[in-house]
Amino acid sequence: MASKKRGAGQTAVITGASGGIGLELAALFAADGYDLVLVARSADALTKAAADLSKAHGVKAIALPMDLAKPGAAAKLKSDLEAKGMACDVLVNNAGFGMLGPFAEADEARLMQLVDLNIRALTELTRTFLPAMVKARRGGVMNIASSAAFMPGPFMAAYYASKAYVLSLTEALWEEMRGTGVRITAICPGPVATGFQDAAKMQDAKLLKMARPMSAKRCAQISYRAFREGKRVEIPGLMTKMMVGATRVTPTGMGLKLVRSLQS
Ligand SMILES: NC(=O)c1ccc[n+]([C@@H]2O[C@H](COP(=O)([O-])OP(=O)(O)OC[C@H]3O[C@@H](n4cnc5c(N)ncnc54)[C@H](OP(=O)(O)O)[C@@H]3O)[C@@H](O)[C@H]2O)c1
Repeated sequence: MASKKRGAGQTAVITGASGGIGLELAALFAADGYDLVLVARSADALTKAAADLSKAHGVKAIALPMDLAKPGAAAKLKSDLEAKGMACDVLVNNAGFGMLGPFAEADEARLMQLVDLNIRALTELTRTFLPAMVKARRGGVMNIASSAAFMPGPFMAAYYASKAYVLSLTEALWEEMRGTGVRITAICPGPVATGFQDAAKMQDAKLLKMARPMSAKRCAQISYRAFREGKRVEIPGLMTKMMVGATRVTPTGMGLKLVRSLQS
């Protein structure tokens, strides 16, 4: 008799699933039997991903195209799910982007979109879907932070600060969720080969020339395992673990100069 898959009868809602790390995570959840709700702005890419994953893994997968940086996105996502009779057993807050450049010259609208997506949408979505998980005593939230969460980042200041927020929120909630049966994990990748670098306009940054990016697939595999194990924080890859370890013992002034030189 075939054994029942871990995610059978459960739904994973994955933001930023039109490509990169989110799409690779979606494939892992589907392979484990989760039904999928895929969210991002690119309707065509999402619809294709939903169809491909549904066919490959025999799960239900739907695309919900939306701009999560817009006010009311979390409420809209919840009502769209209710209208389809679907729950959110696992939430993956993966959608996010970065901006490279001097803060004083940053496009203001884009800057506020970053705050709205990386911080506000993640917070609202977590607040929206966590109560039902606590009530059911199962499920969880995977928040994609970054190795940038561990230090301030001159010339990518708002991005680094947004990921510090994600890490702090997630670690606090991990403690709040202890004993509830609900998992919550912060993932803190270093450079990963995705559309992120183009979106952040950081193709020429020295940081990328120094570090060989991890593949999105590998990053997703490590992240998925960490979430399953209920880890509080996962830093995928030995190099990134070592880099984060070094920042923890480096005086802030020195760290700021180093990041400045890598990102200017
Ligand atoms: N790649 C790296 O080096 C790296 C390192 C550390 C952490 N991270 C984090 O990993 C996460 C995933 O990024 P990635 O590397 O996979 O980059 P990516 O390939 O650019 O993927 C970002 C995803 O977010 C979606 N998205 C962007 N803006 C959105 C919005 N307003 N509303 C809804 N969805 C939106 C994008 O889809 P649409 O464009 O279709 O909306 C896409 O699916 C991010 O949170 C990023 O900060 C990345």
